[in-house]
Amino acid sequence: MKGKGILACSGGTDSTLLAVICSKAAYDQVLSVFVDTGLVRNGEPERVRAIFEKFNINGKIIDAKAKFLHNLKGITNPEEKRKIIGRTFIEVFEEEAKRYGAEYLLQGTIAPDWIESGGSRRETIKTHHNVGGLPSNMNLKLVEPLRDLYKDDVRELSRELGLRDDLQPFPGPGLGVRIIGEITEEKLSLLKGVTQIVEDTIEKRTSGNKRPWQYFAVLLPVKTTGVHGDKRSYGYSVVIRCVDSLDAMTATFSQLDWNILEEMSIEITNGFPEINRVSYDITHKPPGTIEWE
Ligand code: XMP
Repeated sequence: MKGKGILACSGGTDSTLLAVICSKAAYDQVLSVFVDTGLVRNGEPERVRAIFEKFNINGKIIDAKAKFLHNLKGITNPEEKRKIIGRTFIEVFEEEAKRYGAEYLLQGTIAPDWIESGGSRRETIKTHHNVGGLPSNMNLKLVEPLRDLYKDDVRELSRELGLRDDLQPFPGPGLGVRIIGEITEEKLSLLKGVTQIVEDTIEKRTSGNKRPWQYFAVLLPVKTTGVHGDKRSYGYSVVIRCVDSLDAMTATFSQLDWNILEEMSIEITNGFPEINRVSYDITHKPPGTIEWE
């Protein structure tokens, strides 16, 4: 690769590994960009910043929260939301690529990503926006250094380099597909808090093959009546979704211990008076998808 390259580091396993490898191979030739869409989990930008520092990565965190919220104002249709999030991401990323003078786009594509699509893509059930996935629009030459690696290779390499190898998958559009209806700052802040409770509890209380493949929360626009202290209240509902899966193509809901569910429910309603109803999703995939939108 002669010339400068840019990559989108989401903080996930594949793109983080790619950022580390690039920094070792060509530190000042590759810029790793983390776009803070505001739809990421609590502490995520800080976690990525710490990785950039620890591995001496030529990295940049871009705060685009206001831009995303502005573009998503009033939007309730799930497909439209996904498209707006994808488009806004590309806009922010493209601007940075121009500023940096990048000629190449580095992507953390691994073998299952292209083997599964087999040249003829499966029918699109959802508009899956893969960050940095539109190089043809961007006039950048695509480089995929991890193309021949499988999940196990990625995990092994990550471990060897001192990166976490136990991160759960997180969708490109982030918490945007876990807030049903319009995305507002209030709802985002609530969902970030609840997500943290779910993640912390599951990570504290489960390990090995007892830990679900994915564990998260969804915020519903449905308000129901509840009692907080001695007052009746009218508050949001959240759904906890934990699934077991091998490849995300099919999944079963996790048969969690009732005590773990109870712990999460109490912590959520104690921590957030705006929420007075917590449910657990007992839908397999199919017929449900893993994400709610
Ligand atoms: P679904 O909801 O389709 O999700 O059963 C299957 C897996 O894909 C993740 N997911 C996404 N990942 N961009 C991504 O990179 C997306 O737009 C997206 N939507 C869903 C989901 O979290 C699950 O692991």
